[in-house]
Amino acid sequence: MKFIVNGGKKLEGEIEVKGAKNAALKIFPVALLTKETILVSNIPEIEDCLRAQEMFEALGHKAKKISCGIIELKAQNNICPELPENLVNKFRASIMFVGPTLAACGEARFPHPGGCVIGAGTRPIDLFLKGFQKMGAKIEIKNGYYCLTAKKLKGAEIFFNKITVTGTESLMTTATLAEGETILKNCAMEPEIISLAEYLNKSGSKIKGAGTPTIIIKGVKKLHGGEYKIIPDRIEAGTFAMLAAASNSGEILIKNCEPKHLEALWALFDRIGVNYLLSKNSIRIKPTKRKLVSCDLTTHEYPGFATDLQPPFTTFMTQTYGSSLIHETIYDRRLLFADILTQMGANIIMADPHRVVVSGQTKLRGKKVVSPDLRAGIALLMAGILATGKTEIDNIYQIERGYEKISERLNNLGAEIKKV
Ligand code: EPZ
Repeated sequence: MKFIVNGGKKLEGEIEVKGAKNAALKIFPVALLTKETILVSNIPEIEDCLRAQEMFEALGHKAKKISCGIIELKAQNNICPELPENLVNKFRASIMFVGPTLAACGEARFPHPGGCVIGAGTRPIDLFLKGFQKMGAKIEIKNGYYCLTAKKLKGAEIFFNKITVTGTESLMTTATLAEGETILKNCAMEPEIISLAEYLNKSGSKIKGAGTPTIIIKGVKKLHGGEYKIIPDRIEAGTFAMLAAASNSGEILIKNCEPKHLEALWALFDRIGVNYLLSKNSIRIKPTKRKLVSCDLTTHEYPGFATDLQPPFTTFMTQTYGSSLIHETIYDRRLLFADILTQMGANIIMADPHRVVVSGQTKLRGKKVVSPDLRAGIALLMAGILATGKTEIDNIYQIERGYEKISERLNNLGAEIKKV
């Protein structure tokens, strides 16, 4: 499937932010920790969530769609210890099923997880394995599969030598049913982690410190079900805000979002000179006559500037005046898409795999491109909308897996995107 974008149109109107992909993916594995039902609401209708639901069902459990954006999850009695290879290869968050499976049935078998190729080559899972080992799991590798066994998981003190969001979430959820106390140090502090911990505590867990570098979990005997409302996707909200600012053509209201999750972006908007107004659950972007000024960016774990917003920011900096040094500190490969922007007319120097210098303002011209990964894909879609002429984007699975009905929603703002 492809997007054909006819660029250079005026954008204005309203757009609603959907539930956060990186919060939604994590509630499916958590459902393995209880036999009661979990009612999940505000779940985005995206490919990655379908993959997570397929994995949950492939393991023998029930997911029932109640209405659009609302599903009911109910784990069945027998927990299957083996994660199906075809699904593990489809998305990285599949690793999140390992800990709860291990906690629920004492064993877990799976191949190395797949997903987008932006992390250090193979997207390592050493921090997960080390954590499970510390909690008493035995790990063997048998014909390409990791085989974990643990009669009873015990609380442990675990230090993450790299900050990992899914690593933090994985060990936090697994520790809820371990015997005794687990102390996780050097944790990620993303809002999705806080929201997951709040849900787990409502269903019987004893978790303290989510959103800080140290999380303490007291193991409990069992967890109840409950209701989990997915928080708004801060990456969608930030991406739409930068598209509106870059287009600078009409007034745009971004609704159903949490501006407080994007402080690092507003700090940059102040320096760039974007005309924006924040309220509790919305962002209003107005056009400005002033020249928007380029500024430097260094990505950083939350509450720093999110790496998932770096590709849209790189596209944004082609439309501002001056030069911007963009330093992607989390992932290698995540800046490679800048070459495609250069082919569309941008003026970008690749200093090294982690740093580019974008000089603006440059007029972008439509081009035939391929989406390399999820966030680069949306950044190229942004570029196509801003460019004059026609842009054709192939491999749009790598966009639709993270952005619900994205072409329809942007067309409602005045973009011209056809899906063929
Ligand atoms: C989560 O990835 C998000 N994914 C990512 O969003 C996001 O970019 C990232 O957090 C940072 O905010 C989900 O929540 C599903 P990592 P996560 O693999 O936590 C190293 C998107 O576009 N590491 O932990 O899985 C790793 O190499 C995605 O929605 C190890 O060394 O990120 C990297 O340098 C992309 N060993 C760093 O940690 C491990 O065992 C973080 O990567 C695990 C990770």
